[in-house]
Amino acid sequence: MADDLLILNASELVTLKGPRRARAKAEMSDLSIVQDGAVAISDGVIVDVGKTESILRDHGSTGIEKIDASGKVVMPGFVDPHTHLVYAGSREFELELKAKGKSYMEILEGGGGILRTVRDTRDASPQVLFRQSAKRLESMLAHGSTTIEAKSGYGLDKDVEIRMLETIKRLDDEYPISIVPTYLGAHVVPPEFKGDGDAYVDFMAIEVLPDIARRKLAEFCDVFCEKGVFDVPQSRKVLLAAKGLGLGLKVHADEFSNSGGAQLAAEVGAISADHLDKPSDDGIMAMARRDTIGVLLPGTPFSSMSKDYADGRRLIDLGVPIALGTDLNPNCWNESMQFTISLACHKMRMTPAEAITAATINAAAALGLEKKIGSLEQGKRADVIMLDIPTHAHIPYKFGTNQVSLVIKGGRSVWER
Ligand code: NIG
Ligand code: FE
Repeated sequence: MADDLLILNASELVTLKGPRRARAKAEMSDLSIVQDGAVAISDGVIVDVGKTESILRDHGSTGIEKIDASGKVVMPGFVDPHTHLVYAGSREFELELKAKGKSYMEILEGGGGILRTVRDTRDASPQVLFRQSAKRLESMLAHGSTTIEAKSGYGLDKDVEIRMLETIKRLDDEYPISIVPTYLGAHVVPPEFKGDGDAYVDFMAIEVLPDIARRKLAEFCDVFCEKGVFDVPQSRKVLLAAKGLGLGLKVHADEFSNSGGAQLAAEVGAISADHLDKPSDDGIMAMARRDTIGVLLPGTPFSSMSKDYADGRRLIDLGVPIALGTDLNPNCWNESMQFTISLACHKMRMTPAEAITAATINAAAALGLEKKIGSLEQGKRADVIMLDIPTHAHIPYKFGTNQVSLVIKGGRSVWER
């Protein structure tokens, strides 16, 4: 089989070569960098990785497309394992409320927040929902994300939840970025079930989840386990119903208060517990014991004007494998894994290497994709990005601009500038 693309002369080829599982503790600091590195790609798959000289010797026959990455970083495409990509409308007016001291939960309790976006999403036509979401998706690709997760959760009734999941499917089909779908019916109790969260939980478990599983519209099921939203018994019920139908599990855990979400995630065998701004020590230890991945989302406290960032440093030191995600949503309109990495370093005391591991191989593991993507190794899908910076530490160091100059998805160049 002939090679079809060589990327040569990278000042740093960040391979993340290593075990094909989430990396923990000191493993997170090892990026396996090749200086003056090169990658050979054939049929959308990485066939070789090494020094430019040896790749040219083994694969350098004429007629092959060659990309010169001199002075640049080449690395796996970012994997964004937690997004609320699909929604209608926006909530920029909440900025003023937050600046005046209203918390995220106070805005939600007043009928705004998620509930506001539920109204906008229910009112939007499928075309409008698709177009608004596609615009965000294009921007995520331009910022170097080649695989993302996307959740439902702004429909809540069966029809609109399914419409959201179908929108995700169509976006995945039509854009060169892979999207893993998650059902998040348990995002908030909808107005038609107001005051009766238990009845809404039964509705999801009996009426909605079986259809979603049968139609293969979601790979994961997620729950917003938080004081005043879904408590631990309600969250457990939804998660176990989903597990029984073969879905993987995720939990929005301990975001604003210690709600027992981290323990619950470990108990039910969730692949990840996400947020973790306020976890208990027991919750952290339970996660470390079961290798539950902690998906940290520093854009959320940033946009919520909160000082309570997850303690990434401590979680890593205690042995929880950490991934990073944007949490893109109308409260936290963050399309950039580069900005997320920068926040992780500046606000959660993660090192540049740890944050990059968290945004690639560990994020892939948080979606069950660690054997297919997340590192530059022979046999993995050729999802590769080039950044116009000389070393990887420039990713968090330079913030507020896009440093990606080329995105390759499945061996094909899909965005460049
Ligand atoms: O992950 N916390 C719950 N869900 C989202 C926010 C959704 C919204 O505010 O629209 C989150 O932060
Ligand atoms: Fe979220």
